[in-house]
Amino acid sequence: MKNYKTITVPLLFLLPLTTAFPAFQINHRQESSPSTPFDHELQHIDTSSQHQFKPPRSTDHRGPCPALNALANHGYISRTGRTNMEEASKAVNSVFGLSVSLSKFLTGMALLAAGDPWSKVFSIGDSHEFALQEPRGNIGDDLGKPDPSDTHIDWRPHMHKPPGGLSRTQGTFDSDSSISRPDAFLADYGAAPPAAGGQELELDVADTPLMSHIDKIHEIAAEMNMNMTNIGVWREAKRRRVEASKRENPIFLTTPFAGIVAGGVMNTLFPSLLFANHSKEQPDGTFDLNILYDWYGVYPKGPSGWEVRKGWERIPAGFNRIHPSKEITMMDVMSEASTLIFELVLSLGGNVNATDTYEKVDFNVLTGGQYQSYHFRGWRPKVFGCFLRSHLLQGSIGAFEKLFKVVGVPTGLLIEVLEVFDEMKCAEAGRWSVLEAWERFGGLRIWKGIF
Ligand code: HEM
Repeated sequence: MKNYKTITVPLLFLLPLTTAFPAFQINHRQESSPSTPFDHELQHIDTSSQHQFKPPRSTDHRGPCPALNALANHGYISRTGRTNMEEASKAVNSVFGLSVSLSKFLTGMALLAAGDPWSKVFSIGDSHEFALQEPRGNIGDDLGKPDPSDTHIDWRPHMHKPPGGLSRTQGTFDSDSSISRPDAFLADYGAAPPAAGGQELELDVADTPLMSHIDKIHEIAAEMNMNMTNIGVWREAKRRRVEASKRENPIFLTTPFAGIVAGGVMNTLFPSLLFANHSKEQPDGTFDLNILYDWYGVYPKGPSGWEVRKGWERIPAGFNRIHPSKEITMMDVMSEASTLIFELVLSLGGNVNATDTYEKVDFNVLTGGQYQSYHFRGWRPKVFGCFLRSHLLQGSIGAFEKLFKVVGVPTGLLIEVLEVFDEMKCAEAGRWSVLEAWERFGGLRIWKGIF
């Protein structure tokens, strides 16, 4: 959607009101428009025959992203949960309506944080040893295509350890205070932190999704008297989760990519727009409890109860996605990122070793004075976009050396996927001190995530 500027700029002066009066939430993408087009042919998502729902088998991988899990359960990516950049980009573009360059950016980041940049294969969940598995025939291959995991990747020549999969990206892609998943620290360790610098962590944040967090989203919508298509509902749910993390998680951390983009925009803009069902009658979308339960793998239990089944997320029957003319671009993502920061839902920083010790990152140390916190006050998508681009570039220098034995291929991939920022015409940054600025936060020291 390209009209966010025209909607937002005249309303900018209202933004400070939005926190106090949620009904004023600015909703750049979802302003009801009589001209919103609907085209069943272009928007209908097939959930029959080769794309019918099948739950994951014990050998399949599912992880923290409900959308990727659903794509695997419907065979839009390999049902094994091990996919490649091309397959995953195509699926998020065609099934959900992310622009081609945004799809490429997100799958490229998944590869760098969780996969093997040489073969371009990554797991959407856990993957302790997937790269060493013997070819397993066409297990899980309901698309009639070769299973990407069967390409027999040998990561040893170029990586220090096997790629971990999206479930093991705490701090680099996966973040704290997710809208439904518990913080990894609270889920896996309770009150006892792992040894500082510990790397081999048994993480699978999809293991313990909390029914109550999912229900909370619906309750908040009722409280605010809004439909779940309204992004304000999701921002409020996110805000409450962040406050809980500050209170309960001594190593709570919000970094620019994992915290603001994956843990922020993906928790607000993405579900409110992309999980909504569209129709001729309601071209701007509708979103009820059944739809929420489908996307989050919630099933009836007994005569009156409900349960979350790990990795059983599904595309609602009869689902129609957003119209292609409204596809989500990187500028939309930066727009929502900027709003989340300005509305104080999220800020860059974390708890410093104990609960309720939240501090913001020191921009002077981080950027050598190039950015200050006041630069992020106001709705400034381009400022956040250029900051994020520099942070990813500068932070990768040290991180890649720890992950990869040779850095040429991952560096090339990063530069390629960062082309999505070209339209923002960002100035080049000087030398930043990314590690130094984040090192004092417990979350960074333990998880070693810098994105
Ligand atoms: C290749 C593209 C994608 C990748 C690599 C990806 C990866 C991830 C990861 C790692 C997380 C965990 C982040 C966190 O909450 O801390 C996540 C969360 C999430 N993603 Fe995705 N994602 C992708 C596309 C999408 C799309 C197209 C949607 C559409 C709605 C989506 C919806 C969500 C939602 C709603 C969450 C929050 C889960 C929760 O806590 O309830 N993602 N994704």
